[in-house]
Amino acid sequence: MPVLEILTHPDPRLREIARPVEVFDAALQQLIDDMFETMRHAVGVGLAAPQVGVSKRLVVIDIGRKDGEEWHPDPQVFINPTIVEADGELPWKEGCLSVPGVRAEVVRCARVVLSYLDRQGAPQRLEAGGLFAVCIQHELDHLDGTLYVDRLPPLEQKLTLQDYERSRAESAAQSPPP
Ligand code: NI
Repeated sequence: MPVLEILTHPDPRLREIARPVEVFDAALQQLIDDMFETMRHAVGVGLAAPQVGVSKRLVVIDIGRKDGEEWHPDPQVFINPTIVEADGELPWKEGCLSVPGVRAEVVRCARVVLSYLDRQGAPQRLEAGGLFAVCIQHELDHLDGTLYVDRLPPLEQKLTLQDYERSRAESAAQSPPP
């Protein structure tokens, strides 16, 4: 399974409204598997299809599952997802594979109920709280062209993006041209 390229801000493809998934074929299954591979390779907990340049309403998340003292993988796929209920407030320090090198606190809803299709196209419903709820809201934003930095207060957004630009410039200076 190939590891896909993750687009980074300010790539304009991250700003598009993704299209609903209508066909549940082998190519979609391959894309889902490749997205999990890409997310694990990048050591992320969530990835949305627009981040790999695919305009589809598809998100993969794996925040793991604790069984006794051990953590196990818990891969979840959400297709054409919609938040149907949301309440509470939960501040969380977020990062994003498309805005690497920085983190900042965003206030999200503490609980969400999600309606979506699974990878076979069957309708599902799920309630989530904590990190899982934060992750769902962060990834669903990507489907509408929104990045978490858009949700920061103006000054914090400016500082976070300055840090990001600086770390980008540093890593560009360190790697030789292709
Ligand atoms: Ni992200």
